[in-house]
Amino acid sequence: MIPAVLLCAVAGVAAQTQYTSTGTAAVAKAAATALTLSPTSNVAGATFDRYVQIYLENTDYSMAIGDPNLSYLASQGILLTNYFAITHPSQPNYVAAAGASTHGITSDSFSRITASVTTIVDLLEAKGVSWSIYQEDMPYSGFEGNWINQKTGANDYVRKHNPLMSYDSITSNTNRLAKCKNFTMFNTDLNNNQLPQWMFITPNMTNDGHDTSVTTAGKWARNWLTPLLSNTNFNGGRTLVILTFDEGTTTGTNQVYAALLGSAVPAAKVGTTDGTMYNHYSLTKTVEDNWGLGNLGQNDVSAAAFF
Ligand SMILES: *[C@@H]1O[C@H](CO)[C@@H](O)[C@H](O)[C@H]1NC(C)=O
Ligand SMILES: *[C@@H]1O[C@H](CO)[C@@H](O)[C@H](O)[C@H]1NC(C)=O
Ligand SMILES: *[C@@H]1O[C@H](CO)[C@@H](O)[C@H](O)[C@H]1NC(C)=O
Repeated sequence: MIPAVLLCAVAGVAAQTQYTSTGTAAVAKAAATALTLSPTSNVAGATFDRYVQIYLENTDYSMAIGDPNLSYLASQGILLTNYFAITHPSQPNYVAAAGASTHGITSDSFSRITASVTTIVDLLEAKGVSWSIYQEDMPYSGFEGNWINQKTGANDYVRKHNPLMSYDSITSNTNRLAKCKNFTMFNTDLNNNQLPQWMFITPNMTNDGHDTSVTTAGKWARNWLTPLLSNTNFNGGRTLVILTFDEGTTTGTNQVYAALLGSAVPAAKVGTTDGTMYNHYSLTKTVEDNWGLGNLGQNDVSAAAFF
C-alpha cells in the first residue's frame, strides 16, 4: 500500500483556485470529473477508533439545552456543561476546528491561509489515520465556492462553514480536496462501510439552524444521528461523536452546547455531565492525544482533551 502522505506529495500539483467557479454549467462540468476519494484505515486509538465532529449554528448553551431533541441526545451520552466557542462570527470557529487557531480570520469573507500552515490533516496523514469531511449539499468533492439551492435560491452550502477550505494546504492538493465531500458521498461511504476514522460534518444552512432555528437544528440532529448510532458501519467498534455549535449569539458568553455520544462513551458515563472547561481547541487536542499525533504548536497544546 502506498502511504497517504506519499500519494499527496505526488498528486498535489493542482492550482488552488481550480474549483471556485459557481456558475451552474461550470459546476456541472467539474462535478462530472472531480476526484472523490474514500480512504479507510484501522489505526487503534487510546480511547476511540473513529471521531465524528458536528457543528450546528449560532445558539447559546441555555437555548440549546432547552430544546427537547438536543437535551434528549445529551442524555444518551455526556453533556459538557462548560464548553465555549472561540470567537465570532462563524468562519474562525470552523477554521479553529482544523488548525487549533483562528489564524487571524475575523470575518466570514473568503479567506486563505498560507500553505505552510499545518492542520490536523497533516498530523492524521503522518500516522495513516484516514479522514474526510462531509458538507451537506456541496455540489461535488473539492468545490471551493458557495452554493445555493438551485430551485429555491436559498443559501445552502457555504464555504465559511467548511473547516478546511480556507487552508491552502488543502486547496492546493487534489487528493485532499477529494476528501472534502457531500452527504451523498457520506451515505455512499456509510453503505460501503468506507467511513474514515476522522470526520467533520456540516449540515446545510437549513438543517444547522443558521437560516432556521434551534428547533430545526435539534430535530435534524436527532433524526440524523439516531439511525447512525445503531449502524455498525458508523458506531461499531469505538466511535466518539461530538455534537456542538460553532458559536453562541453575540450577546452571550459564547458558551455552547456540546455532547459526547457514540460507542466510545463508557456505559457508566451515559447520562452524566462533565463540567471541565473545554473549547473548540479541545477538538484537535482530543484527537492528537488519542492517536499520539503530536501537536500543531497552536492552542491545541494547552487545551483540555475530552478523555
Ligand atoms: C455529491 O458529490 C458527488 C461527488 O463529487 C457528486 O457526484 C454528486 O452529484 C454530489 N451530490 C449532490 C447532491 O450534489
Ligand atoms: C437542506 O437539506 C434538507 C434535506 O436534508 C432539504 O430539505 C433542504 O431543502 C436543504 N436546504 C436548502 C437550502 O437547500
Ligand atoms: C423532537 O422532540 C419533539 C418533542 O419531544 C418530538 O415530538 C419529536 O419527535 C422529536 N424529533 C425527533 C426527530 O425525534
